[in-house]
Amino acid sequence: MKNILITGSSRGLGLEFTKQYLEKGENVIASCRNPMKASELQDLKSRFPNNLTVIQLNVTEEEDRDRVFEQVKTKFESLDVLINNAGIVSGEEGKIFNLGEVYKEDFSKVFLVNSIAPLLMSEKFLPLLEKGEKSKIINITSLNGCIAKRAQGGKYSYCTSKAALNMITKILSNDLRDKGIVVLVIHPGWIKTDMGGPNAPQEIEEPISMIIDLVEKSDLSQSGKFLDWKGNELPW
Ligand SMILES: NC(=O)c1ccc[n+]([C@@H]2O[C@H](COP(=O)([O-])OP(=O)(O)OC[C@H]3O[C@@H](n4cnc5c(N)ncnc54)[C@H](OP(=O)(O)O)[C@@H]3O)[C@@H](O)[C@H]2O)c1
Repeated sequence: MKNILITGSSRGLGLEFTKQYLEKGENVIASCRNPMKASELQDLKSRFPNNLTVIQLNVTEEEDRDRVFEQVKTKFESLDVLINNAGIVSGEEGKIFNLGEVYKEDFSKVFLVNSIAPLLMSEKFLPLLEKGEKSKIINITSLNGCIAKRAQGGKYSYCTSKAALNMITKILSNDLRDKGIVVLVIHPGWIKTDMGGPNAPQEIEEPISMIIDLVEKSDLSQSGKFLDWKGNELPW
């Protein structure tokens, strides 16, 4: 049975990762900013009282990361998978700042959640990942972070934050190779969630189940790669 820590588990992809890992019989530590408001996560807690631990965590808060590390360390000896999933598309809900509207607070908020927090989470939980079984850090990126394929303007902060996350993943994979820890950055596809919107072509179940499979089969030979949910390698 693996121990899996997921960020942003209140809804969307994080909730689906939580559900599917629980259905596979794994131990899930599902973290989110407001557990009491995450009703679907609470429903999962009633279905899986033994295997699901729900923990409050805002990934940008150092105090939260420190507290969660202590809580996890007390209950579990090791961590096998860390999924850095929490993400935001903009520094102000419902707004995208295109050319002419760019402002620094949008960039700093988006980079803090999407790029810097995954690195800080990985750093914090390293002592537990080092004790895990073929441990993996999975950073959820986006095709929007793929410089080679960018053919549109706009969405400056989101696109650059995911490109930064891609580079962070590559560097981290180099740092952690000797420890045997696999680090991957995965584009999940365009999926119907609050962020993906109702026009997204994909339902949530299939891509998440494919990513779970991909993560399970991945080894050090793939560490540092930018993959899509089907396992295809993407250009940077
Ligand atoms: N959906 C897509 O089509 C798509 C495509 C490519 C990449 N992605 C990536 O996939 C990941 C999940 O996206 P999604 O579609 O599931 O988005 P979503 O439905 O908007 O959910 C985002 C999740 O991130 C959490 N979150 C935001 N800021 C946080 C913070 N500071 N600390 C902790 N949690 C925080 C949210 O928590 P609250 O409920 O507290 O707000 C929520 O659980 C993101 O990294 C996104 O960039 C999504």
